[in-house]
Amino acid sequence: MKILLTGGAGYIGSHTAIELKKAGHEIVIGDNFSNSKPDVLEKINQIVGQKIEFHEIDFTNQNDTLKLFEECHFDAVIHFAGLKAVGESCTMPIEYYKNNIDSTLNIVEAMKKYDVNNLVFSSSATVYGIPKKLPLKEGMPTSCTNPYGWTKLMNEQILTDVTRANPKFSVVLLRYFNPIGAHESGLIGEDPNGIPNNLMPYITKVAKGVLPELNVFGNDYPTKDGTGVRDYIHVVDLAKGHVDAIEYAEKHRGVEIFNLGTGVGYSVLDIVNTFSRVNNIKVPYRIAERRDGDVAECYADAGKAREVLNWSATKTLDDMCKDSWNFAKNN
Ligand code: NAD
Ligand code: UFG
Repeated sequence: MKILLTGGAGYIGSHTAIELKKAGHEIVIGDNFSNSKPDVLEKINQIVGQKIEFHEIDFTNQNDTLKLFEECHFDAVIHFAGLKAVGESCTMPIEYYKNNIDSTLNIVEAMKKYDVNNLVFSSSATVYGIPKKLPLKEGMPTSCTNPYGWTKLMNEQILTDVTRANPKFSVVLLRYFNPIGAHESGLIGEDPNGIPNNLMPYITKVAKGVLPELNVFGNDYPTKDGTGVRDYIHVVDLAKGHVDAIEYAEKHRGVEIFNLGTGVGYSVLDIVNTFSRVNNIKVPYRIAERRDGDVAECYADAGKAREVLNWSATKTLDDMCKDSWNFAKNN
């Protein structure tokens, strides 16, 4: 298939580009570099041994989006492009709704006009809100606590409605849990600007000595050691899930939702201790206040993806911690 990767220069998109090439697909990346850098493209080219077609484009621009579809004759789209910082979305809700909703509307409009019928969308476990029951299954109720989460839920609704109205359309909604890790080459990985919000990029900055210590947000949760529990998944496993998802979308019609997680929950201290052990490096930390909006525990039931897509995560927490550090120490 010839597949457009919106936001393909980003963390998950860049790893997915590599797995799609390995699986024999043709890919085209579109990105506006609002949260990535052009040198990622060079790294992708180096890993796949070929120059990948790239277009600098903002998908909130309707004309540019239509023009790209007119030129390129895609078979499918994987729509990663979006703003993703939960805290920032609370202070900049207009920018979040505009970017994350307008881009999706422009893409589905262009898909309809140019008869492109297969789409995979980057959704998030955040749409489950505060879990009432664990593990989380795709059919469980959804709700949101911040504008970022609402953009994911609204996009899920938009894509469901668009698919209902168009019998040719096929959409797979992927609800990611917590991607960490990096490509084994150490060439690409997660490299956020400024002080990271997420746990693993914060840990690697502490390990490098750029930040003095990790703040562990709360140790009084009803979890095994009192710290928050999440379903961390290696980004390469996640990327492989997209290959299965887009191939599934091509053969089916309608909307399907899949959790992409490992089904296993690890605490913040599990991550800190594993990272220190496998990389033989100290991560100083202190216990801090709980962070607003955090839930105690969140992990997937990954059974549906295993049964329907024949996908499951294979990499261990040791792999995730080693590969995160392998990338971070060189970048
Ligand atoms: P990322 O920020 O690294 O990648 C997103 C890419 O999209 C960036 O390269 C950015 O420049 C680009 N982009 C943003 N708006 C754009 C626009 N209007 N036009 C063109 N390009 C645009 O993020 P990521 O971690 O790779 O996440 C990819 C997707 O997965 C996002 O939609 C995110 O919300 C979702 N997601 C991420 C996580 C996570 O923890 N990383 C979890 C759940 C869901
Ligand atoms: N944490 C710390 N200290 C930090 C950062 C995080 O203790 O400096 C803790 C959090 O309290 C939480 C765990 O580490 O218990 C994971 O936090 P992250 O910020 O890494 O991830 P979240 O689970 O909060 O959220 C992430 C993405 C969301 C996405 C969600 C579910 O940031 O966009 O996973 O996919 F919606």
